[in-house]
Amino acid sequence: MTNVRITPLTPVIGGEIEGIDLATPISDAEASFIRQALLDHHVVFFRNQDLNHDQHKAVGNLFGELVKVPFVESVPFHPEIFEIIKLPEECDVYNFGGNWHTDMTYMQEPALVSTLYGAEVPASGGDTMFASLEDAYSGLSSGMQQLLEGLTGVHTADRSYGRAGKFARDTIADEGMNVRPSEDAAKQIEHPVVRTHPETGRKALYVNPNFTFHFKDMSEDESKPLLDFLFKHITRDEFVCRFRWTSGSVVIWDNRCTMHRALNDYDGHRRVMRRVTVGGDQPRLI
Ligand code: SIN
Repeated sequence: MTNVRITPLTPVIGGEIEGIDLATPISDAEASFIRQALLDHHVVFFRNQDLNHDQHKAVGNLFGELVKVPFVESVPFHPEIFEIIKLPEECDVYNFGGNWHTDMTYMQEPALVSTLYGAEVPASGGDTMFASLEDAYSGLSSGMQQLLEGLTGVHTADRSYGRAGKFARDTIADEGMNVRPSEDAAKQIEHPVVRTHPETGRKALYVNPNFTFHFKDMSEDESKPLLDFLFKHITRDEFVCRFRWTSGSVVIWDNRCTMHRALNDYDGHRRVMRRVTVGGDQPRLI
């Protein structure tokens, strides 16, 4: 453990860990270091890793049980892993993960942690942005915090994965992937607009530009101005970091307190990422 260290990417979010080889069995001390680093920095980065599917799943298992992500085909024999692929010929199209979002908030128990492995990355471009939902919450006035704590957000995957959703149309980079639109996406799931992190006790905003379209007992028109304000607020410069991938990078993010967005600035180049997702608990405001 003497060579293990973390370098913050910004004062509020992101830290790059050096000195741990994720392909070898991870010691208890290394596992504790990674877990604490994630609580402190919300998203952590590793470079120059060489992971097969089982080693990647072992990284996810540091945080809990793995889940199969709905609506997306997994890699053969590994239901817990799916690939995010954009092909060189997929130009001028929306890319998977290209809007700010937190993973799977359309479920009653959304994803806890996600880990992404850069299997093939473009020479430049294709960075991923991350935003701290805790620092965004702390950055609001006490009056706004109080108002938001009384609200419930309604989340649905319908506009992404429903029969008439984004992925049912052909302006999407999904030729290399198998995304399966379904009527199951129509479910409406309620979560508090402010949630408490069960491990740190910190409060975070919990609205999702991909999946939250209104507050409970309010119309979309009524909800939109406040949601738009929050989405803009969360992505202010001081709450975000940007990770530049190199081949073999691994990123682990805490979905209880972050949003992320895959940039789409590398048309004509191939990008292949592998994701393992850890199942979470029901968001609560305590
Ligand atoms: C994701 O949203 O899980 C993918 C992020 C990325 O491809 O950078």
